[in-house]
Parts: sequence; C-alpha cells; structure tokens
Amino acid sequence: METKIFKPQEISQAAALLRQGELVSFPTETVYGLGAVVNNEASVKAVYQAKGRPSDNPLIVHVDSPDMVWHYAAKNADALALMKAFWPGPLTIILPILPGSLLPCVTGGLQTAAFRMPNSPATLALIRETGIPIVGPSANTSGKPSPTTAQHVYHDLGGKIAGILDDGPTKVGLESTVIDLSVKPAAILRPGYINADDLAPIIGAVETEQHHVKANEVPKAPGMKYKHYAPSAQVLIVRQQQDFTAAVQNELTKADRPLGVLAFDQQLAQLNSSANSHQILTYSLGENITTAAQDLFAGLRFFDDHPQVKVILAAGVTEEKLGLAYMNRLRKAAGGQFYQK
Ligand code: TXA
Ligand code: MG
Repeated sequence: METKIFKPQEISQAAALLRQGELVSFPTETVYGLGAVVNNEASVKAVYQAKGRPSDNPLIVHVDSPDMVWHYAAKNADALALMKAFWPGPLTIILPILPGSLLPCVTGGLQTAAFRMPNSPATLALIRETGIPIVGPSANTSGKPSPTTAQHVYHDLGGKIAGILDDGPTKVGLESTVIDLSVKPAAILRPGYINADDLAPIIGAVETEQHHVKANEVPKAPGMKYKHYAPSAQVLIVRQQQDFTAAVQNELTKADRPLGVLAFDQQLAQLNSSANSHQILTYSLGENITTAAQDLFAGLRFFDDHPQVKVILAAGVTEEKLGLAYMNRLRKAAGGQFYQK
C-alpha cells in the first residue's frame, strides 16, 4: 500500500482515512503515534500487526479533551486535577474503565485504560475531525527506538499504513509519563518529562519504584517486560562520573572499529582532539538533558544505518527528573549493560 504523507493543512484527509478504518501515524510532543479509531476492532488489531507488537500490551487512548475521557471512565477528582495542570501534555493517566466501554484489544483485556491528550494542535484537530479517540502506540516496529520524525515512521512502517501526518520533529523526544490512578497510592509506571515532583503537589506522593519484571510476573504496565529501543549494535552506558574520553580510548583497544559514540557536545569536543578520533562514528546529544532526550532515539536509529558499528558507547546522566526518563530508555536500549573498564 502507498503511505501518504499529510501536512497539517491536510488533516481532513487523514481523518477520513481513520474513519474508514485505516491506520494513520500522528505527531505528538513526545514521539509519533500509530493511530486507529478506538472502536474498530479490525483497525486496532491491524495496529498490533503493523508494529509486530505483542497483543497483551495495551494501547493509549488519545483524546482531544478531558470530556472525551468520561465516555469510558468514571469522573475522578485526581484525574481532573492532573488534566487541568498538565493537559494537553506528556502525561498518560490510567483509570478504571466503565465496563464494556472499550474493546479488549485496546485494553489488553484489563479493566483499566490509559488516556492521554497530546500537546500537538495538529493531532488534537485530527482527533476532533475524526470524532472519536484514536489508539496510539509509538509508531515504530516493536522493539526499535520510538520515532521522533515522520521519516522514522516511514522507515519502519512505510508501505504498511495508509498515512503519516507530518508536523516536523517532536519536542520532548521521550514517551509520556504514565501515572496509574487505579491504585493507591498512585504509581508512575513509566518515567517521562513530567516527574514525581511535578505530580506530588497535585495528588500527593506517588510511587516511583522502577522494578524489573520477571518472566512469570504480570507487569503493571505490560510494556515494561519487553525488549525495547534496541539498535542492532550493543549499547554500553558510560556512567556520568566516568571519564568519557578514557572510556572511548579503552574500548577502542577491545571493540571493532568504528566504535559508535553517542555523547554530549562537550564530550565530543574532547574526543575530537584525541588521537583516535578517526576510529569513531559519533552522534551528538547536544548540550544538555533536554536536547539529549530529544535526540536519543534518533541517535540510536543513526547507528542502525551504519551496520559496521558493533558497539556504541552512550553517555549516562544523573537519574533525576528528565534524566530518570532518559536513563530508563537508555538502560533498555543497552539491555542494562554499562561500560566496564
Ligand atoms: O508519549 C506517548 O505516550 C506515546 C505517544 C504516541 O502518545 N505513546 C506511547 O505508547 O508511548 P506505547 O503504546 O508505546 O506505550 C504505552 C505504555 C505501554 O508500556 C503500555 O504497557 C502501558 O502504556 N499501558 C497502556 N495501557 C495500560 C493499562 N491499562 N495499564 C497499565 N499500563 C498500560
Ligand atoms: Mg512504544
């Protein structure tokens, strides 16, 4: 099938395709999503199929307003307060659903569902024109880094979906924070741009424990158990307190060349003045954690375009605030592996 690229002024064409049951990728402030109307079972199943996603991993229901949520979940004071503070924005809220209001293929058979109002005028208009929420996992092949540009989506899903609404690169770059309000205390199931300190003044202390899900355990967010974000090369995380240049020089004595390097501008500047700079292939994370969050997935994808790179050294950061979300994704990309001297 031909995958059409739509500009924001062509939203009504994209909405028409969605209403016909086709799949259309949409932009958000975090990553691109893979959209289908929430009430069409065949379309929702096609989303799993296009991504190669396990069918027990539920989808986020994207809405154009808080009001749209209350067709599927009972009104909830904490949820309303969070929506008021952070929507539209990178916060996904899990709520118990009204029985039978959503297809089991949307919820993975759970009695809860994830709701999100993305901060993208184009996508809010798309949902409004479609007239019904759209499900939207990240629009990548399952297991690969999430897409932060329409080109990334095309790379993974071109030919498999009807369209992509292109509104340029995403701004946050990491997927939304997922907060579970179906449990007490509320729990962050996936860290993101909005952190526990942002949420606490509104709903009180939240659970933030990041635990690793065992094979026989039912995870709180089913997506947590799967391999994620992994490029073909092995990623090794260099801890923030380690000397990055020394790590690269040491790794060059062990690994195949070129060695992949995913690092901040300052670290790259130091490396470029070192003797072995011609034996490395670099991708910049920019100047700070904000740019690093924006660029992480594009960087991981960059090395997939250079299959001669077998090992990537990637810059670690302090695990607080946005750094917690960055490290959560990077740890998964690395399969938990850190650079060792
Ligand atoms: O930023 C984002 O959230 C992006 C954009 C496109 O909105 N979407 C996204 O969707 O990251 P996805 O499907 O890749 O991640 C959704 C996560 C998964 O880990 C899933 O297991 C979890 O949310 N989830 C969905 N419904 C859930 C539920 N009822 N209970 C627990 N976890 C749930
Ligand atoms: Mg995803």
